[in-house]
Amino acid sequence: MSQPNLKARESGGLVLDSHAGLRIDGARLIDSLDRLGEIGADPAGGVTRLGLSAEEHAARVFLGDLCAAAGLEAETDPAGNLFARRPGTRRAKPVLLVGSHVDTVVRGGRLDGAYGVLAALETLRVLHEHRVSLPVEMVVVAFANEEGALVQTPFWGSRMLCGSLANPLGATDRTGRPVGAYLATAGGAPDRLADVAWPPGSVAAFIELHIEQGPSLERQGVPVGVVEGIVGRTILDIGVTGEAQHAGTTPMADRRDALTAAAEIVLAVRRIAAEDRVCATATTGFIEAAPNVTNTVPGVVRLSAEVRDTDPARQARGEDVVREQCARVAAASGCRVEVTATMRSRPVSTAPALRGVIREAADRLGLPHLTMPSGAGHDAQIVARIAPVGMIFVPSRRGISHAPGEDTGPGDLVNGANVLLQAVLGAQAELSRPDGHDSSSG
Ligand code: GLV
Ligand code: MN
Ligand code: MN
Repeated sequence: MSQPNLKARESGGLVLDSHAGLRIDGARLIDSLDRLGEIGADPAGGVTRLGLSAEEHAARVFLGDLCAAAGLEAETDPAGNLFARRPGTRRAKPVLLVGSHVDTVVRGGRLDGAYGVLAALETLRVLHEHRVSLPVEMVVVAFANEEGALVQTPFWGSRMLCGSLANPLGATDRTGRPVGAYLATAGGAPDRLADVAWPPGSVAAFIELHIEQGPSLERQGVPVGVVEGIVGRTILDIGVTGEAQHAGTTPMADRRDALTAAAEIVLAVRRIAAEDRVCATATTGFIEAAPNVTNTVPGVVRLSAEVRDTDPARQARGEDVVREQCARVAAASGCRVEVTATMRSRPVSTAPALRGVIREAADRLGLPHLTMPSGAGHDAQIVARIAPVGMIFVPSRRGISHAPGEDTGPGDLVNGANVLLQAVLGAQAELSRPDGHDSSSG
């Protein structure tokens, strides 16, 4: 980050002092959330707006229209990331990046990601309407394909922006269809992916507002979460190969049943976290059997295992134990079991100075807050490689997320967006400090 002078610090402080009473337009935010929630609305319930699909592209078109109506400028980079800025504010200086993602999982909720993007846009819009001049330019981002539900590369957009994806064109969906084919129809440009990474030093800080996706805030009756750290996550692709055989004639003792072997693995994965406490969580969320007919012993199964923890050593141990269990099941079942890690994201801490900025923003609004970890992954943990990050949570009703029942009360949504607005103003003062920003990850 550059080293702004004292004058800049004063102007950052001044921005905060003179606009501490500024608020977002709650009705406008709720209306935009309702409208975005219609894009990819799934007849089976919830929202299916997968990363780099036509639906995610339609969401970007919607955001672009929203920006145009508000007098903001929007552009999409070759990887599908959308950025919104105020006209005439582009400077060759590090920016304050604020946002989240607009893709969902299959039959997910309408708030995961979308809320953070629309609240960031509402914040930028209010600052623009009130002609608030910011020493550090604010840029809103809607990262592409955070979930990795279709093209199997979670955090695609933020990893591309940070330049941390080694072979982006090698990304595919589960059938092997390459990312390039998706980008071509999702407003991206596969031949220009080399232009996507931002040069070092271009992000002064990143702030992401998100629903909690778990039960802590609601249970404790606290409207605002200040995230102190985000879990690391390892995703393993597991292939089990036995032998497809006739279900009526193959003696039980002669079978190499890939699905019963996979079932043992599923239970072992659960035990790793639930009983043995090796890591915080361990989940099998995907399974597919072939030939998947009633009267054939399954010959091939593909399943996933993912392990998470805020401690990198426990995250690594979780992966090791999944591998040990797969080897045990292979030996006992006579099936071949292959395990491939498809993603490892690191646990990160948010920047202490930005936690302070968020707490002060909530205090100014009279909102109690709770400092807490995030069990969900977020683009913020990727951006943390290149800049200090801060995250704000709002309560999730019954803690439900990645499911159609995902919900947050309108009052909590509006409160969270006001915390974001005030945190953006507070960050101006913090980022303009002559001694630079405390980006340590303590
Ligand atoms: C992101 O949505 C995650 O799976 O944590
Ligand atoms: Mn999600
Ligand atoms: Mn999310």
